Amino acid sequence: MHFRILLALTGYMGLGIITGSHDSTIRLWDLTAGKTHAILTNHKKSVRSLALHPEEFTFTSASPDVIKQWRFPDGNFMQNMTGQTGIINCMAVNPDGVLVSGGDNGSLFFWDWRTGYNFQKAQTIVQPGSLDSEAGLFCMTFDKSGTRLLVGEADKTIKVYKQDETADEESHPVVWKSEILRGKKY
Ligand SMILES: *[C@@H]1O[C@H](CO)[C@@H](O)[C@H](O)[C@H]1NC(C)=O
Ligand SMILES: *[C@@H]1O[C@H](CO)[C@@H](O)[C@H](O)[C@H]1NC(C)=O
Repeated sequence: MHFRILLALTGYMGLGIITGSHDSTIRLWDLTAGKTHAILTNHKKSVRSLALHPEEFTFTSASPDVIKQWRFPDGNFMQNMTGQTGIINCMAVNPDGVLVSGGDNGSLFFWDWRTGYNFQKAQTIVQPGSLDSEAGLFCMTFDKSGTRLLVGEADKTIKVYKQDETADEESHPVVWKSEILRGKKY
């Protein structure tokens, strides 16, 4: 096989793996049969990130300029989410259907999983002493509660973004603010 796998997610429907690749494909693998049962070729550039909804049989994939949403088990296309231009390195989704995508330029986009609506944009702030070119988001995950987002960033920090409880539908549906985790020992 001549494709380079950039990432793999396990655990959908028990026995599957999804991979996103440098060759721009997404492959759904059936582990018991030991082969792919679907190859999705809709992306035109490298797929660097995948996110699996924790409760629904749906997932998203990101390549530069576009996030696409799909349904299991066959990989039926659901929708495009566009607006975040450039390379998207990482995504995470919580049980409330908040999808976050992290850009190589430090941008954070917040999307409604169901409608694909981009309800908030943010830009990371590099820690003092870092160069602006070190604004990049590499990896992210929600904590178990789904209310805090942990992001590994190019300025060598892990930042925690949390929902602003005082935000309402009129000010913003949800607002996420960040704080930096510094030298805490666990
Ligand atoms: C989704 O995006 C692709 C390009 O990546 C485009 O060809 C297609 O028409 C779009 N589909 C919808 C439903 O917007
Ligand atoms: C990064 O990309 C986003 C999305 O395309 C854009 O809105 C934002 O202005 C860019 N940020 C910088 C610092 O260039």
